[in-house]
This record gives sequence, structure tokens and C-alpha cells, in this order.
Amino acid sequence: MSLKTSHSSLFTPHSLLITGGAGFIGANFVHYWTRNYPDDQVVVLDALTYAGNRANLAPVENHPGFHFVHGDIRDYSLVLSLLENHRINTIVHFAAESHVDRSIHGPDAFVDTNIVGTHSLLKAAKAVWLDSPQSSTLSPQSTTFRFHHISTDEVYGSLGPDDPGFSEQTAYAPNSPYAASKAGSDFLVRAYYKTYGLPMTISNCSNNYGPYQHPEKLIPLLILNCLQGKPLPIYGDGLNIRDWLYVEDHCRGIDLILRKGSIGATYNIGGNCEKTNLEVVKIVCAILDELKPLSPDSSLLTPHSSLITHIKDRLGHDRRYAIDAGKIMRELEYTPVESFESGILKTVQWYLENLEWCKKVMGEDYKKWLQQNYS
Ligand code: NAD
Ligand code: DAU
Repeated sequence: MSLKTSHSSLFTPHSLLITGGAGFIGANFVHYWTRNYPDDQVVVLDALTYAGNRANLAPVENHPGFHFVHGDIRDYSLVLSLLENHRINTIVHFAAESHVDRSIHGPDAFVDTNIVGTHSLLKAAKAVWLDSPQSSTLSPQSTTFRFHHISTDEVYGSLGPDDPGFSEQTAYAPNSPYAASKAGSDFLVRAYYKTYGLPMTISNCSNNYGPYQHPEKLIPLLILNCLQGKPLPIYGDGLNIRDWLYVEDHCRGIDLILRKGSIGATYNIGGNCEKTNLEVVKIVCAILDELKPLSPDSSLLTPHSSLITHIKDRLGHDRRYAIDAGKIMRELEYTPVESFESGILKTVQWYLENLEWCKKVMGEDYKKWLQQNYS
């Protein structure tokens, strides 16, 4: 999204409201932040939908300055009170319905949370940061407050095989209800900057993977199905391409944007790591062949790749995503730390070491989902 931005400024987050902090990326971000900035206050607001899990925050439960609030971003008065009572100066907005397949089966929740929910947060931030009597004494707001909105590369649509990667100038062309709802929320954030001067930044990131990802998503689904000797469902021909980034590298990018990004700017974050789904599944299988040649939950003998099963394609399945991360690399000196090889090995190891967590997440709701999507 191309938008005229104001000066690049240094900003210091010290009291953060992290929405969706009990989900995959949000929880990793909370871990990252409390580790790197232990004196900051971190308030997590999460509705604990099927995708949110209090256990994702277990490592920080006793961290001084950490508070968990079970609530909905659409609850305007709750958000107002959190902003005021905790003197929040930074909102990092992860909360969303995030799964493309679920958005195909039931788009309503995506409009409600991603569009209406984001708007409710924006209204509350405007009321407390820009409109309240005290705010006029705290100027300029641009150096006092920050609203960072987490978006996705999916808003840009799908690329052909030889197209250059998505840049911040690429026109929005969302194809799934999920992507359209994220695009809608991005536009609202932009509008609150242009119209009211709300100091905001947006990041559009590519596919994340790593610890705490819900097993409805491709990589954990593959790992856990392998361990159970279950088919590895690959949509269509498996040649769709995603651009993979280890989740902590996403967190590092957000940190840089918060501290050094230009107000009103969008930054694409990616790892320059395009892989077809078939490449990904083969890599996961090869790691598990090494680490778990005989899985405890199955009588499977290697190779795990014998479990690959092509199934009916996802409706409207985007063919290729690729991020041009040149802007954040040049302007904020961002570089990802993990390669796909190192990140995927860490990820598989994390799932192997956290089978209790996996069992909890794969409860009745998950079984219902598998039935609905794969039967
Ligand atoms: P996730 O589904 O794992 O977590 C979402 C979290 O939001 C959950 O904890 C859930 O309980 C919470 N939530 C949902 N509705 C809520 C509401 N109304 N009020 C409060 N909390 C609510 O999602 P994720 O994969 O961690 O994605 C986080 C954000 O990053 C999303 O905005 C997503 O669009 C974006 N993103 C994800 C990826 C990816 O690869 N996963 C890539 C780029 C961008
Ligand atoms: O690109 C960023 C996006 O990445 C985020 O905005 C989304 O929140 C996140 O869920 C992710 O979306 P994808 O649709 O790309 O991720 P998913 O893990 O669902 O699928 C990755 C690829 O694997 C995609 O091409 C579909 C395919 N797939 C997925 C599943 C769940 C399969 O072939 N089989 C499956 O069972």
C-alpha cells in the first residue's frame, strides 16, 4: 500500500497492548519482547478462540509487567479502559481470524474480527490518544504513541511464475475472504492515519512457521500427521509456492518497525525463501525420517513421504506468494537470522518436545475441523 509517510522517527515502546498474544505469532512476540525488553509492561488482550491458548504464554506468566486479559478486541469499553489504566503507548495488533480454509467455510467471523474488531481498536486508540483532554498536552502524538497493525502478503493476491515479489507499491488484490478482510483492516488503519493523524505503521509478512503454530496450518499439520502415520494432505498438484519466514524473524522485523519505522509507512517482511508445498512436505518428512524413523503413535517405518496424498484443491487457491523485503532491509537494516534449514529443524524439534501441548490443541474442536475440511 503506497502512502505518503512522515519523517522516520525513533520511538520507544514501554507499555504495550498486544492483541491476539495467545495465538501463534502473538505468543512468540510476547516471548521475544519480554526477553529483550524485560522492564516493559506487556498487556495481552486475547479472546481465546479455538486458535488462542493460554499455555502459549506459560513461559511468561510470572514475568513482572506481564498481564493477561481475556477479552475481545470488539469490546470498545474494555479496550478504552486498558489503554487508560495501563497507560498504553504502543498497540501491536495481531488478533485476527487467520486461517484461509476456515474463511472459505465461514467468512462471517473474519469480517467481524478482522474488520469490525480492528475498527473498534482504532476508535479506542483515537479516543484515548488523540481526543482526550490530556492528549492535547502530550504532543506530538507521533513520538508518544504507536499503533502497529500486523497484516499479510495475501492482500496482494497471487503471482505468476516470473513476476517480481510483492513490494509495498503492489496493488491490493485479495482473493480469499480472509485476505479481503485483512485488506479491509489495512485500509481502515491507513484511513485513521490520513484522516485523524493516528500514528500507525503496518507490516505485511509472508508465511510464518515455528513453535506454537496451530496444527490446522500446513507445517504443524504435516509434522503431527507424520507422527500419527496419517495421510499428509496436499491440495491440488502441490506446486503452489509460499515464501517462508521463521516466526522470530518476523518478531525482529516488527521490533525494528516500532522503533525506527516511519509513521504512516507499510513494510513488507519476508525471508526470500520460496518453496513449493511439495518441497516443504519432503523436507519435513526427511527430518522426521532422521529424528523419528518409527513414530510412537504409529507403526510407520520410513520414509514418511509415502504418506503424501494429493487431495481436492483449496477454492481460489493462490498460486504463488513472494515478498520483496528490500525496503525494510535498506531502511531499517533488517535481515532474517534463520535459514529454512535451521528454522524447520528447530520447529520439528519443538513439536517433538511438546507433544502434550499438541494433544491439548488437537481436541474436539480440531477433530471437528478435520472432519469438515478433509472428509
Ligand atoms: P492465530 O490464529 O494463531 O492467532 C490469533 C489470535 O487472535 C488467537 O489467540 C485468538 O484467540 C485471537 N483472537 C481472535 N479473535 C479475537 C478477538 N475478537 N479478540 C481478541 N482476540 C482474538 O494467528 P497467527 O497466525 O498468530 O496470526 C497473527 C496475525 O498475523 C494475524 O493478524 C494474521 O493475519 C497475521 N499474519 C499471519 C501469518 C502467518 O503465517 N501465520 C503471516 C502474516 C501475517
Ligand atoms: O502468507 C501469509 C499467510 O500464510 C497468513 O496471512 C495466514 O494467516 C496463514 O495462515 C498463511 O496462509 P496459507 O494459506 O498460505 O497457509 P496454510 O498453512 O494454510 O497453507 C500453506 C500452503 O499449504 C497453501 O498453499 C495451502 C497448502 N495446504 C495447506 C493445508 C492446511 C495444503 O496443501 N494442505 C493442507 O492441508
